[in-house]
Amino acid sequence: MRHEFSLEPFQARLTTSYMGRRFLFYPSLPSTQDAARQEAESGAPEGTTVLADQQTAGRGRLGRQWVSPAGANLYFSTVLRPDTEHLRSLVMIWPLAVAMGVEDVAGLAARLKWPNDVLVGPRKLAGVLIESSFRGGGLDYAIAGIGINVNLDVSLLGELRDTATSVSAELGREAPREEVLAAVLGRFEELYEAARRGEPVHLDWKARLDTLGRQVRVSFGDKVEEGLAEDAEPDGALVLRRPDGSRVRIEAGDVTLRG
Ligand code: BTN
Repeated sequence: MRHEFSLEPFQARLTTSYMGRRFLFYPSLPSTQDAARQEAESGAPEGTTVLADQQTAGRGRLGRQWVSPAGANLYFSTVLRPDTEHLRSLVMIWPLAVAMGVEDVAGLAARLKWPNDVLVGPRKLAGVLIESSFRGGGLDYAIAGIGINVNLDVSLLGELRDTATSVSAELGREAPREEVLAAVLGRFEELYEAARRGEPVHLDWKARLDTLGRQVRVSFGDKVEEGLAEDAEPDGALVLRRPDGSRVRIEAGDVTLRG
């Protein structure tokens, strides 16, 4: 069933001091990333959040498309202005915040796939896309875009059906998008503030990483590495043990499981 996104229950549940306090809702956008970027360029404060009920050109990592039908899911982008030092933490904090927020509202056990997918069982529930803009040698802002399959009917997905899931597919009933969004923004602000205080948030991220201990193939740029995913470092990099025993550190890439 299609439900409108309602501002009132979202705002009533929002516990943050800045995340989502400036909030822009659009029934349809090509991509919330571009609208949030325009906001950032015009000086919007940290935490500004742009949500669209549907996207006509939703994008994922590595130039992929993000399926974004109306009335079902969450597609939002947030304006952040971290120090360069905390930019890499966003890659860990966002998926962790999504996993925790979904657990808070729906009670689902969500896990993470390196670097920043949220899984339930083997299937993908949510993805995170971080785009940053530099000016004068420093970080000007980052736009973090999050797509969460909340009430998506996965039977409509065609070939993605085996690899994607939604909160409703897992629960067997629909979940309120407004509550999920408020919970995720709340969890994000807590974790982001903890990271800025110097707390080791990567440990919670690492504890949920399903990728560790698996034989994987990681592609990045035109390179491929294979081996045992042995560790994840405090800056979010993955450490692989190659078959010849050597170790390699990978900062970003795309993981597939091998056996
Ligand atoms: C991925 O897993 O590849 C990242 C998916 C990110 C999708 C979100 S939906 C909101 C924002 N707008 C976009 O066009 N993409 C991100």
